[in-house]
Amino acid sequence: MAFPAHRPRRLRSTPALRRLVAETRLHPADLVLPLFVREGVDEPVPLTSMPGVVQHSLTSLRAAAREAVELGVGGLMLFGVPRQRDAVGSGADDPDGILNVALREVRDEVGDAIVVMADLCLDEFTDHGHCGLVADDGTVDNDGTLERYASMALAQADAGAHVVGLSGMMDGQVGHVRAALDDAGRSDVLILAYAAKYASAFYGPFREAVESTLTGDRMTYQQDSGNAIEALREVRLDLDEGADIVMVKPALPYLDIVRAVAEESDVPVAAYQVSGEYAMVEAAAAAGMIDRERAIMESLLAIRRAGASIILTYWAAEVARTL
Ligand code: PBG
Repeated sequence: MAFPAHRPRRLRSTPALRRLVAETRLHPADLVLPLFVREGVDEPVPLTSMPGVVQHSLTSLRAAAREAVELGVGGLMLFGVPRQRDAVGSGADDPDGILNVALREVRDEVGDAIVVMADLCLDEFTDHGHCGLVADDGTVDNDGTLERYASMALAQADAGAHVVGLSGMMDGQVGHVRAALDDAGRSDVLILAYAAKYASAFYGPFREAVESTLTGDRMTYQQDSGNAIEALREVRLDLDEGADIVMVKPALPYLDIVRAVAEESDVPVAAYQVSGEYAMVEAAAAAGMIDRERAIMESLLAIRRAGASIILTYWAAEVARTL
């Protein structure tokens, strides 16, 4: 029997060799840590469906932001959990609304040492829980919502957001918000577009994190999980409208989309490893079914390998510490 000329195993024979030939690496600077901040609490509130993740108080938020800087994490994505909600999401563009207050505090804490991003969507601020305004006939009003997003973007820019993360999936949201920011002299603020955002069961634990009141679903604005060509159309529109970064969400169940978007885009591509992806690993690990640390690293590496240059993950600080 002839011995094989090529022996791939030679390249795997020591840890040093495997490190030398690694095609994909993770770096803390590529990671973005999502943080929740809840109005009116003095202590962080743990989340049952996301073990290890909390709703921060303003004080603990500052500490978490400072820690992320020290660990070299690339960015923060802030979500607000307001005390009051109403039909139009007034808290979203109120300078005293929790998310805007939090942005100010975080910028005061970290300056420009880390990229500070804000989720730009109405769902945390509306009493019906939809990402936009709801018309009398019960449909989500696209163009009316764009006005709210523009106002929210200006409030977030004023509060110090380096990047606004448009996650509402309204048509034309990137172009509309870009124009509003530019008209207000804020062409310096970046837009991260949740370009391909699927209507996903994997957002389940997040809904607890922001105490969502949604009763129906988001099928009329978020994408059907089986559609891939549509994702490319969404990305193309967002790029035409001026998106600086495009994102695919969720990540692990949509790696084919991450790859396709990375091939299509000449801007940085982000992927959001969402709450359900986090919760699955944590729950399986807690039940002794999976090696937690290895599963975390493998999932992040897979997302990176698929073509995402930026990864939003609730494990960002923990992983940055080990890298
Ligand atoms: C909308 C928004 C959602 C998430 C991020 N931004 C929820 C949704 O679209 O229903 C989900 C994030 C996660 O599950 O980790 N503001």
